Amino acid sequence: MRVIEAFREMFGADPQGVWHAPGRVNLIGEHTDYNDGFVLPFAVQWGVTAAVTPRADGIVRLSSLQADGPPLTLSELEAAEGWARYPVGVFWAMREAGHAVGGADLLIDGDVPQGAGLSSSAALEVVVATALNDLHGLGLGKMELALLAQRAENDFVGVPCGIMDQAASALSEEGKALFLDCRSLGSRTIPLDLAAHGLQLLIIDTGVHHDLADGQYARRRADCESAARHLGVDALRDVTDLAGALKRLSGDERKRTQHVVTESHRVEALIGLLRAGAVAEIGALLNASHLSLRDQYEVSCAELDVAVEAAVRGGARGARLTGGGFGGSAIALVAEERAPAVRKSVEAAYAERGWKAPRFLPAAPSAGARRLA
Ligand code: GLA
Repeated sequence: MRVIEAFREMFGADPQGVWHAPGRVNLIGEHTDYNDGFVLPFAVQWGVTAAVTPRADGIVRLSSLQADGPPLTLSELEAAEGWARYPVGVFWAMREAGHAVGGADLLIDGDVPQGAGLSSSAALEVVVATALNDLHGLGLGKMELALLAQRAENDFVGVPCGIMDQAASALSEEGKALFLDCRSLGSRTIPLDLAAHGLQLLIIDTGVHHDLADGQYARRRADCESAARHLGVDALRDVTDLAGALKRLSGDERKRTQHVVTESHRVEALIGLLRAGAVAEIGALLNASHLSLRDQYEVSCAELDVAVEAAVRGGARGARLTGGGFGGSAIALVAEERAPAVRKSVEAAYAERGWKAPRFLPAAPSAGARRLA
Protein backbone atom coordinates (compact mmCIF):
# COMPACT_ATOMS: atom_id res chain seq x y z
CA MET A 1 0.00 0.00 0.00
CA ARG A 2 1.51 3.30 -1.07
CA VAL A 3 0.39 5.10 2.08
CA ILE A 4 2.42 2.67 4.21
CA GLU A 5 5.56 3.18 2.14
CA ALA A 6 5.12 6.94 2.21
CA PHE A 7 4.50 6.87 5.97
CA ARG A 8 7.71 4.90 6.49
CA GLU A 9 9.64 7.38 4.41
CA MET A 10 8.14 10.40 6.17
CA PHE A 11 8.11 9.22 9.78
CA GLY A 12 10.89 6.59 9.73
CA ALA A 13 8.81 3.60 10.90
CA ASP A 14 5.77 1.57 9.91
CA PRO A 15 2.39 2.99 10.93
CA GLN A 16 0.57 1.20 13.72
CA GLY A 17 -2.47 0.82 11.48
CA VAL A 18 -4.19 1.94 8.29
CA TRP A 19 -7.86 2.93 8.02
CA HIS A 20 -10.17 3.92 5.19
CA ALA A 21 -13.41 5.91 5.10
CA PRO A 22 -15.44 6.57 1.93
CA GLY A 23 -17.21 9.59 0.45
CA ARG A 24 -20.90 9.33 -0.39
CA VAL A 25 -23.67 10.15 -2.80
CA ASN A 26 -27.22 10.64 -1.66
CA LEU A 27 -29.81 8.63 -3.55
CA ILE A 28 -32.69 10.64 -2.11
CA GLY A 29 -33.63 12.63 1.01
CA GLU A 30 -31.98 15.99 0.34
CA HIS A 31 -31.93 18.76 2.94
CA THR A 32 -33.95 16.54 5.23
CA ASP A 33 -31.22 15.53 7.69
CA TYR A 34 -31.21 18.76 9.71
CA ASN A 35 -35.02 18.65 9.73
CA ASP A 36 -34.93 15.35 11.66
CA GLY A 37 -36.13 13.58 8.50
CA PHE A 38 -35.06 10.56 6.43
CA VAL A 39 -32.09 10.17 4.10
CA LEU A 40 -30.91 7.36 1.82
CA PRO A 41 -27.24 7.85 0.91
CA PHE A 42 -24.62 5.25 0.11
CA ALA A 43 -20.83 5.22 0.34
CA VAL A 44 -18.90 5.46 -2.93
CA GLN A 45 -15.79 3.62 -4.05
CA TRP A 46 -13.53 6.64 -3.40
CA GLY A 47 -12.43 7.76 0.02
CA VAL A 48 -9.65 8.73 2.37
CA THR A 49 -7.00 6.36 3.71
CA ALA A 50 -5.01 7.23 6.84
CA ALA A 51 -1.84 5.60 8.17
CA VAL A 52 -1.54 6.42 11.86
CA THR A 53 0.77 5.89 14.83
CA PRO A 54 -0.07 7.38 18.24
CA ARG A 55 2.52 9.58 19.99
CA ALA A 56 3.08 9.96 23.72
CA ASP A 57 4.36 13.56 23.52
CA GLY A 58 1.06 15.21 22.55
CA ILE A 59 2.26 16.30 19.12
CA VAL A 60 0.05 15.84 16.07
CA ARG A 61 2.07 15.54 12.86
CA LEU A 62 -0.22 15.60 9.91
CA SER A 63 0.63 15.19 6.28
CA SER A 64 -1.09 14.17 3.10
CA LEU A 65 0.01 12.79 -0.24
CA GLN A 66 -2.16 15.49 -1.82
CA ALA A 67 -1.26 18.53 0.34
CA ASP A 68 0.97 19.55 3.25
CA GLY A 69 0.13 20.22 6.86
CA PRO A 70 2.44 21.53 9.61
CA PRO A 71 3.07 19.67 12.89
CA LEU A 72 0.93 20.88 15.80
CA THR A 73 0.71 20.08 19.48
CA LEU A 74 -2.57 19.18 21.14
CA SER A 75 -2.54 22.50 22.95
CA GLU A 76 -2.49 24.45 19.69
CA LEU A 77 -5.04 22.61 17.58
CA GLU A 78 -6.80 25.89 16.85
CA ALA A 79 -3.81 26.94 14.74
CA ALA A 80 -4.58 24.31 12.07
CA GLU A 81 -5.42 25.76 8.67
CA GLY A 82 -7.17 24.72 5.47
CA TRP A 83 -7.81 21.00 4.98
CA ALA A 84 -5.96 20.20 8.23
CA ARG A 85 -8.88 21.65 10.21
CA TYR A 86 -11.03 18.60 9.39
CA PRO A 87 -8.77 15.91 10.86
CA VAL A 88 -7.55 18.18 13.64
CA GLY A 89 -11.20 19.00 14.45
CA VAL A 90 -11.72 15.33 15.23
CA PHE A 91 -8.90 15.35 17.83
CA TRP A 92 -10.57 18.43 19.29
CA ALA A 93 -14.07 16.88 19.32
CA MET A 94 -12.80 13.67 20.91
CA ARG A 95 -11.02 15.56 23.65
CA GLU A 96 -14.04 17.82 24.21
CA ALA A 97 -16.15 14.69 24.64
CA GLY A 98 -13.73 13.53 27.35
CA HIS A 99 -11.93 10.79 25.43
CA ALA A 100 -8.28 10.27 26.25
CA VAL A 101 -6.74 10.92 22.85
CA GLY A 102 -3.04 11.74 22.65
CA GLY A 103 -0.93 12.97 19.77
CA ALA A 104 -0.28 11.02 16.58
CA ASP A 105 1.63 10.87 13.32
CA LEU A 106 -0.86 10.73 10.45
CA LEU A 107 -0.43 10.39 6.74
CA ILE A 108 -3.52 10.88 4.62
CA ASP A 109 -4.09 9.64 1.07
CA GLY A 110 -7.38 10.56 -0.60
CA ASP A 111 -8.97 9.82 -3.96
CA VAL A 112 -12.42 11.39 -3.62
CA PRO A 113 -12.89 13.55 -6.72
CA GLN A 114 -12.34 17.07 -5.39
CA GLY A 115 -15.12 19.62 -5.51
CA ALA A 116 -17.63 17.06 -6.79
CA GLY A 117 -19.75 17.26 -3.64
CA LEU A 118 -18.98 13.67 -2.70
CA SER A 119 -18.14 14.47 0.94
CA SER A 120 -14.39 14.16 0.97
CA SER A 121 -14.41 16.21 4.18
CA ALA A 122 -16.73 13.76 5.97
CA ALA A 123 -14.49 10.91 4.80
CA LEU A 124 -11.46 12.70 6.23
CA GLU A 125 -13.17 13.26 9.58
CA VAL A 126 -14.56 9.75 9.82
CA VAL A 127 -11.28 8.04 8.95
CA VAL A 128 -9.50 9.92 11.75
CA ALA A 129 -12.31 9.23 14.25
CA THR A 130 -12.25 5.53 13.37
CA ALA A 131 -8.47 5.31 13.69
CA LEU A 132 -8.39 7.09 17.07
CA ASN A 133 -11.23 4.89 18.35
CA ASP A 134 -9.29 1.73 17.48
CA LEU A 135 -5.86 2.95 18.57
CA HIS A 136 -7.05 4.14 21.96
CA GLY A 137 -9.58 1.33 22.52
CA LEU A 138 -12.37 3.85 23.10
CA GLY A 139 -15.09 1.35 22.23
CA LEU A 140 -17.25 3.92 20.42
CA GLY A 141 -19.90 2.70 17.98
CA LYS A 142 -20.06 3.81 14.35
CA MET A 143 -22.86 6.31 14.93
CA GLU A 144 -20.99 7.80 17.87
CA LEU A 145 -17.97 8.25 15.61
CA ALA A 146 -20.17 9.88 12.95
CA LEU A 147 -21.55 12.28 15.57
CA LEU A 148 -18.04 13.21 16.76
CA ALA A 149 -17.04 13.80 13.13
CA GLN A 150 -20.08 16.02 12.63
CA ARG A 151 -19.24 17.89 15.85
CA ALA A 152 -15.74 18.54 14.46
CA GLU A 153 -17.24 19.98 11.28
CA ASN A 154 -19.95 22.03 13.02
CA ASP A 155 -18.02 23.41 15.97
CA PHE A 156 -14.37 23.32 14.94
CA VAL A 157 -14.41 23.87 11.18
CA GLY A 158 -17.59 25.95 11.46
CA VAL A 159 -19.73 24.31 8.75
CA PRO A 160 -23.33 23.80 9.90
CA CYS A 161 -23.89 20.44 8.14
CA GLY A 162 -26.32 17.72 9.20
CA ILE A 163 -25.41 14.12 10.07
CA MET A 164 -25.95 12.48 6.67
CA ASP A 165 -22.45 12.59 5.19
CA GLN A 166 -20.60 11.38 8.27
CA ALA A 167 -23.19 8.66 8.95
CA ALA A 168 -22.98 7.43 5.35
CA SER A 169 -19.20 7.29 5.56
CA ALA A 170 -19.22 5.45 8.91
CA LEU A 171 -22.16 3.04 8.52
CA SER A 172 -22.55 2.10 4.86
CA GLU A 173 -22.23 -1.47 3.64
CA GLU A 174 -21.15 -2.75 0.25
CA GLY A 175 -23.98 -3.21 -2.25
CA LYS A 176 -26.44 -1.39 0.00
CA ALA A 177 -27.95 2.02 0.59
CA LEU A 178 -28.23 3.36 4.13
CA PHE A 179 -31.67 4.37 5.35
CA LEU A 180 -31.20 6.74 8.25
CA ASP A 181 -33.78 8.34 10.50
CA CYS A 182 -31.98 11.56 11.43
CA ARG A 183 -34.06 12.00 14.59
CA SER A 184 -33.73 8.62 16.27
CA LEU A 185 -30.44 7.97 14.44
CA GLY A 186 -31.71 4.45 13.83
CA SER A 187 -30.51 3.05 10.53
CA ARG A 188 -31.00 0.09 8.24
CA THR A 189 -29.18 -0.98 5.12
CA ILE A 190 -31.20 -1.71 2.00
CA PRO A 191 -29.85 -3.89 -0.84
CA LEU A 192 -29.17 -1.82 -3.95
CA ASP A 193 -28.04 -4.18 -6.68
CA LEU A 194 -28.24 -1.92 -9.71
CA ALA A 195 -26.25 -4.21 -12.01
CA ALA A 196 -28.70 -7.06 -11.41
CA HIS A 197 -31.33 -4.80 -12.97
CA GLY A 198 -29.09 -3.72 -15.84
CA LEU A 199 -28.81 -0.25 -14.30
CA GLN A 200 -26.07 2.20 -13.41
CA LEU A 201 -26.06 5.21 -11.16
CA LEU A 202 -24.01 7.74 -13.02
CA ILE A 203 -22.49 10.64 -11.10
CA ILE A 204 -22.31 13.74 -13.29
CA ASP A 205 -19.76 16.08 -11.75
CA THR A 206 -20.59 19.55 -13.05
CA GLY A 207 -17.15 20.82 -12.04
CA VAL A 208 -18.66 24.02 -10.63
CA HIS A 209 -19.10 25.21 -7.08
CA HIS A 210 -20.96 28.46 -6.60
CA ASP A 211 -19.60 30.60 -3.83
CA LEU A 212 -22.99 31.34 -2.34
CA ALA A 213 -23.33 27.68 -1.34
CA ASP A 214 -22.25 28.05 2.28
CA GLY A 215 -24.29 31.11 3.16
CA GLN A 216 -27.34 29.74 1.37
CA TYR A 217 -27.08 26.43 3.26
CA ALA A 218 -27.26 28.26 6.57
CA ARG A 219 -30.18 30.36 5.27
CA ARG A 220 -32.14 27.27 4.26
CA ARG A 221 -31.63 25.84 7.72
CA ALA A 222 -32.86 29.07 9.24
CA ASP A 223 -35.95 29.08 6.96
CA CYS A 224 -36.79 25.57 8.12
CA GLU A 225 -36.30 26.41 11.78
CA SER A 226 -38.54 29.46 11.59
CA ALA A 227 -41.20 27.51 9.65
CA ALA A 228 -41.15 24.84 12.38
CA ARG A 229 -41.52 27.55 15.03
CA HIS A 230 -44.49 29.05 13.20
CA LEU A 231 -46.13 25.65 13.03
CA GLY A 232 -45.40 24.90 16.67
CA VAL A 233 -43.41 21.73 15.94
CA ASP A 234 -39.90 20.73 16.98
CA ALA A 235 -38.80 20.14 13.39
CA LEU A 236 -40.39 19.97 9.94
CA ARG A 237 -40.25 16.19 10.34
CA ASP A 238 -43.24 16.57 12.65
CA VAL A 239 -45.56 18.09 10.05
CA THR A 240 -48.27 15.49 9.52
CA ASP A 241 -50.89 17.66 7.79
CA LEU A 242 -48.92 19.25 4.95
CA ALA A 243 -51.94 20.95 3.33
CA GLY A 244 -52.89 22.51 6.67
CA ALA A 245 -49.29 23.58 7.33
CA LEU A 246 -48.94 25.20 3.91
CA LYS A 247 -52.07 27.28 4.55
CA ARG A 248 -50.44 28.72 7.64
CA LEU A 249 -47.16 29.61 5.96
CA SER A 250 -46.11 31.97 3.20
CA GLY A 251 -43.10 32.84 1.07
CA ASP A 252 -39.85 30.98 1.61
CA GLU A 253 -41.05 29.16 4.73
CA ARG A 254 -43.92 27.67 2.74
CA LYS A 255 -41.69 26.53 -0.10
CA ARG A 256 -39.03 25.01 2.16
CA THR A 257 -41.68 23.15 4.16
CA GLN A 258 -43.26 21.73 1.04
CA HIS A 259 -39.90 20.41 -0.11
CA VAL A 260 -38.84 18.89 3.20
CA VAL A 261 -42.12 17.11 3.88
CA THR A 262 -42.60 15.78 0.34
CA GLU A 263 -38.94 14.76 0.17
CA SER A 264 -39.36 12.60 3.26
CA HIS A 265 -42.36 10.93 1.56
CA ARG A 266 -40.19 10.33 -1.49
CA VAL A 267 -37.57 8.58 0.63
CA GLU A 268 -40.19 6.21 1.97
CA ALA A 269 -41.70 5.67 -1.49
CA LEU A 270 -38.29 4.92 -2.95
CA ILE A 271 -37.58 2.37 -0.24
CA GLY A 272 -40.93 0.75 -0.97
CA LEU A 273 -39.94 0.39 -4.63
CA LEU A 274 -36.52 -1.03 -3.78
CA ARG A 275 -38.12 -3.56 -1.46
CA ALA A 276 -40.50 -4.58 -4.22
CA GLY A 277 -37.57 -5.06 -6.60
CA ALA A 278 -38.91 -2.25 -8.81
CA VAL A 279 -35.52 -0.56 -9.04
CA ALA A 280 -36.04 0.88 -12.51
CA GLU A 281 -39.15 2.67 -11.23
CA ILE A 282 -37.29 4.89 -8.79
CA GLY A 283 -36.34 7.27 -11.59
CA ALA A 284 -39.61 9.18 -11.34
CA LEU A 285 -38.90 9.92 -7.68
CA LEU A 286 -35.43 11.21 -8.55
CA ASN A 287 -36.99 13.58 -11.10
CA ALA A 288 -39.59 14.77 -8.59
CA SER A 289 -36.88 15.36 -5.99
CA HIS A 290 -34.91 17.50 -8.42
CA LEU A 291 -37.91 19.66 -9.33
CA SER A 292 -38.68 20.19 -5.67
CA LEU A 293 -35.04 21.11 -4.90
CA ARG A 294 -35.03 23.47 -7.88
CA ASP A 295 -38.39 25.17 -7.40
CA GLN A 296 -39.24 24.88 -3.71
CA TYR A 297 -35.89 24.62 -1.98
CA GLU A 298 -34.04 26.72 -4.56
CA VAL A 299 -30.65 25.06 -4.22
CA SER A 300 -30.05 24.10 -7.83
CA CYS A 301 -28.12 26.04 -10.47
CA ALA A 302 -28.01 26.17 -14.27
CA GLU A 303 -25.24 23.56 -14.54
CA LEU A 304 -27.19 21.05 -12.43
CA ASP A 305 -30.49 21.72 -14.19
CA VAL A 306 -28.92 21.29 -17.61
CA ALA A 307 -27.19 18.06 -16.54
CA VAL A 308 -30.43 16.63 -15.16
CA GLU A 309 -32.57 17.66 -18.14
CA ALA A 310 -30.06 16.49 -20.73
CA ALA A 311 -29.55 13.17 -18.92
CA VAL A 312 -33.29 12.50 -18.96
CA ARG A 313 -33.57 13.60 -22.57
CA GLY A 314 -30.74 11.21 -23.41
CA GLY A 315 -32.67 8.32 -21.90
CA ALA A 316 -31.90 8.30 -18.16
CA ARG A 317 -34.74 6.87 -16.07
CA GLY A 318 -34.42 9.77 -13.67
CA ALA A 319 -31.90 12.30 -12.41
CA ARG A 320 -31.45 14.82 -9.62
CA LEU A 321 -28.86 16.97 -7.94
CA THR A 322 -27.18 15.21 -5.01
CA GLY A 323 -25.78 16.81 -1.85
CA GLY A 324 -26.11 20.41 -0.81
CA GLY A 325 -26.62 21.91 -4.30
CA PHE A 326 -25.30 25.09 -6.01
CA GLY A 327 -22.93 22.94 -8.05
CA GLY A 328 -21.21 19.67 -7.29
CA SER A 329 -22.80 16.59 -8.80
CA ALA A 330 -26.03 15.27 -10.19
CA ILE A 331 -26.88 11.57 -10.27
CA ALA A 332 -28.68 9.82 -13.11
CA LEU A 333 -30.21 6.36 -13.08
CA VAL A 334 -29.36 4.84 -16.41
CA ALA A 335 -29.97 1.51 -18.15
CA GLU A 336 -26.47 0.25 -18.95
CA GLU A 337 -27.02 0.25 -22.71
CA ARG A 338 -28.25 3.87 -22.56
CA ALA A 339 -25.20 5.18 -20.68
CA PRO A 340 -23.27 6.32 -23.80
CA ALA A 341 -26.35 8.18 -25.14
CA VAL A 342 -26.91 9.85 -21.77
CA ARG A 343 -23.30 11.01 -21.61
CA LYS A 344 -23.46 12.33 -25.15
CA SER A 345 -26.66 14.22 -24.44
CA VAL A 346 -25.17 15.92 -21.37
CA GLU A 347 -21.87 16.67 -23.13
CA ALA A 348 -23.70 18.21 -26.07
CA ALA A 349 -25.85 20.38 -23.79
CA TYR A 350 -22.71 21.61 -21.99
CA ALA A 351 -20.82 22.22 -25.25
CA GLU A 352 -23.76 24.20 -26.65
CA ARG A 353 -23.45 26.61 -23.75
CA GLY A 354 -19.68 26.80 -23.96
CA TRP A 355 -19.29 25.04 -20.59
CA LYS A 356 -16.42 22.71 -19.75
CA ALA A 357 -17.47 19.06 -20.16
CA PRO A 358 -18.63 17.42 -16.92
CA ARG A 359 -17.05 14.25 -15.54
CA PHE A 360 -19.03 11.01 -15.53
CA LEU A 361 -18.38 8.52 -12.73
CA PRO A 362 -20.46 5.35 -12.28
CA ALA A 363 -21.09 4.95 -8.53
CA ALA A 364 -20.71 1.60 -6.77
CA PRO A 365 -22.37 1.29 -3.32
CA SER A 366 -19.35 0.56 -1.12
CA ALA A 367 -18.41 -0.38 2.44
CA GLY A 368 -18.18 2.22 5.20
CA ALA A 369 -15.18 3.10 7.36
CA ARG A 370 -12.88 0.22 8.28
CA ARG A 371 -9.38 -0.82 9.24
CA LEU A 372 -7.27 -1.97 6.31
CA ALA A 373 -4.04 -2.98 8.04
C1 GLA B 1 -24.64 18.70 2.68
C2 GLA B 1 -24.62 18.49 4.19
C3 GLA B 1 -25.56 17.35 4.61
C4 GLA B 1 -26.95 17.52 4.01
C5 GLA B 1 -26.86 17.82 2.51
C6 GLA B 1 -28.20 18.14 1.91
O1 GLA B 1 -24.10 17.57 2.02
O2 GLA B 1 -23.32 18.21 4.61
O3 GLA B 1 -25.62 17.25 6.01
O4 GLA B 1 -27.66 18.52 4.68
O5 GLA B 1 -25.98 18.89 2.22
O6 GLA B 1 -29.04 17.03 1.94
